[in-house]
Amino acid sequence: TPKPSNKMIEAHDLLRKFYHHLLVNTKEGQEAYDYLIGRGFTREVIDEFEIGFALDSWEFVTKFLTKRGYEPEELEKAGILVKREGKDSYLDRFRNRIMFPLADLQGKTVAFSGRILGEGQPKYLNTPETSIFSKGKILYNFHRAKKHIRKNQEVILLEGYADVIAAHKAGCFNGVATMGTALTEEQAATIKRNVENVIICYDSDGAGIEAAYKAGQVLTKVGCTVKVAVMPSGYDPDDYVNQYGTEAFRGEVLEASLTLMAFKMRYLRRGKNLQNEAERIRYIDEVVKEISLLPRAVERDHYLRQISQEFSLSLDALKQETQQNNRFEK
Ligand code: CTP
Ligand code: MN
Ligand code: MN
Ligand code: MN
Ligand code: MN
Repeated sequence: TPKPSNKMIEAHDLLRKFYHHLLVNTKEGQEAYDYLIGRGFTREVIDEFEIGFALDSWEFVTKFLTKRGYEPEELEKAGILVKREGKDSYLDRFRNRIMFPLADLQGKTVAFSGRILGEGQPKYLNTPETSIFSKGKILYNFHRAKKHIRKNQEVILLEGYADVIAAHKAGCFNGVATMGTALTEEQAATIKRNVENVIICYDSDGAGIEAAYKAGQVLTKVGCTVKVAVMPSGYDPDDYVNQYGTEAFRGEVLEASLTLMAFKMRYLRRGKNLQNEAERIRYIDEVVKEISLLPRAVERDHYLRQISQEFSLSLDALKQETQQNNRFEK
């Protein structure tokens, strides 16, 4: 008999194909298909990413898979079914949702994320942590992006599935995403094993900016060189591509991405009134602290000059400040 994990993966494989079939070939999937097209998904990306549709039914998948010899207990452990409270029967976890298959780093489907059609909560419903699926380990689209990441010597780190797919539409096949959680050290290490240069392209909202700052720290720690792409406030890459087009996304977002330090300066500036002396000094202190952590003397010099010019401060004084906290020069 096959290992339980193989059975779980087989079930996901079957289900992925079935969900995709429902979306693209059936009357029941038509509304979901139209919703996706209306949002700018093309038939090509629907096929490439094998996006699917889960029927509005409590027991369709339960029947479909148990008929094919899968045990409901196993399917529950795989996150596909949910056990009914206090009963010996099972329900489909995903109902009436657009289904994004989630693959492990090798490309085997190990989970799903289901999006509601339109507004509603939760927007995405995910497979819980299982023996084959750990959110903090996998990166969405990694298995497809890997060869492009290596060839371009660059990876684009995005926030959501739709963003990875929008980047793909724009010809950027080297995009991966975390799944609504902070980038883990393990994910960062996976990235570093394949590439040094990372462009973080998170949503341009409060949460996205905060998360970009944190991801920058984690990636720097594992030795990556990080840039951060910025978009007009309120946009995410998917919105941006649909509104401004693929050329603008490549030229005005990706190519214009900021060095991590430049992004941090912007970040530290947020909500501060630099006309106010106390706030200005706090800003300068924070920036100088960040500069002092940069590993290369030329970089430190570059940003110190920038600060010295912007605030008419003596370069020598700034240098003394950084030497006090610099961990590389002592
Ligand atoms: N996410 C999640 N559960 C939620 C909301 C979000 O798992 N209830 C994850 C998804 O992976 C999602 C990512 O966090 O893709 C980013 O969230 P958000 O920006 O809110 O969603 P979008 O990717 O922009 O989704 P859409 O464009 O479909 O609205
Ligand atoms: Mn297809
Ligand atoms: Mn977001
Ligand atoms: Mn978003
Ligand atoms: Mn979005």
